Amino acid sequence: MKVAICERKGSFSDYWKIYCEKKCIPFKVVDVYRNDILEQIADCDAFMWHFSHLDYKDALFAKQLLYSIELSGKKVFPDFRTVWHFDDKLGQKYLFESINAPLVPTYVFYTKEDALDWINRVTLPKVFKLRGGAGASNVCLVRSRRQGVKLIKKAFSSGFEQYNSFYLLKERYRKFCQKEIGLTFLLKSFLRCFIKPDFLRLSPKEKGYVYFQDFISGNETDTRIVVVGNKIIGERRGVRKGDFRASGSHILLPDVSKVDIRCVKLAYELSVELKLQIGVFDFIHHNGMPLVVEVSYGTDPDYTECEGYWDEKLAFVHSPINLPEIIIENFLNLH
Ligand SMILES: Nc1ncnc2c1ncn2[C@@H]1O[C@H](COP(=O)(O)OP(=O)(O)O)[C@@H](O)[C@H]1O
Ligand SMILES: [Mg+2]
Repeated sequence: MKVAICERKGSFSDYWKIYCEKKCIPFKVVDVYRNDILEQIADCDAFMWHFSHLDYKDALFAKQLLYSIELSGKKVFPDFRTVWHFDDKLGQKYLFESINAPLVPTYVFYTKEDALDWINRVTLPKVFKLRGGAGASNVCLVRSRRQGVKLIKKAFSSGFEQYNSFYLLKERYRKFCQKEIGLTFLLKSFLRCFIKPDFLRLSPKEKGYVYFQDFISGNETDTRIVVVGNKIIGERRGVRKGDFRASGSHILLPDVSKVDIRCVKLAYELSVELKLQIGVFDFIHHNGMPLVVEVSYGTDPDYTECEGYWDEKLAFVHSPINLPEIIIENFLNLH
């Protein structure tokens, strides 16, 4: 088995290369942005790419390339079942509803009239989200009808950028105050508000739909569960101060005794049912019951703060966690 690995610094690929070297698995680093990518992988049996939703190039063709390689008969990571709904909360609404998964009640509209009619009738607050984005960058609370109407009108006119530079600046300022990042990082975000990075210049605007969810109040954390094969990793993440959003807060709460085992079980069952190579789930709680917020294939490679994993029988196994290694081991059936 020869593996083609697409390199991206800071992604799973850093660890995959080390793993292949350690285990003497033949591998080759390939460049997906070159026109001859299919020739490059011709002598390989498998292809792995931890692409980024924040790179406009990856967003343009990563899924299409992966599906094509999978159709040609090679093993790919991530495969179709794992990735078609990635960075796509619209797709995930239909996916979870189709299997009766306990998704946070979600409402989507594809015309301004339908959306306005709805916002004038529902109880508030509601949570507004864009289809894509991570770290809660495109998630906000709608407290008033006026705010809801404004968002709807924008969605059906100029649309939204896929990443809000002012939001990033605010987030970086918060992290700067907490001494998590230095001044250079903060200044870079400031400049970004005026000089748009390629990702924003070249990505299409989000428009023509609106996505809302019921606001599930009282959650001081969310629960992040990652399932790969029969290993289930989990932790809670604290919400930002004075905010309802945990994603992107970097407040990691790995104490396993505080992780709701029902989330662990649910994430495992959903991963099996959906046949996912990896399922990175976020849960919140409503009246004590877990509700799914979203699923993803990609995540920060570093889960070393977690003290181990649950097996498929939900028994906890103490062990150091190297997530990218667990992924490649499971992918190559070497565990
Ligand atoms: N409907 C909701 N009600 C209450 N809190 C929510 C709701 N949806 C999301 N959250 C909170 O906001 C965070 C970000 O939402 P999420 O949909 O996961 O966006 P992202 O893709 O940016 O991570 C979640 O981690 C959770 O803490
Ligand atoms: Mg999330």
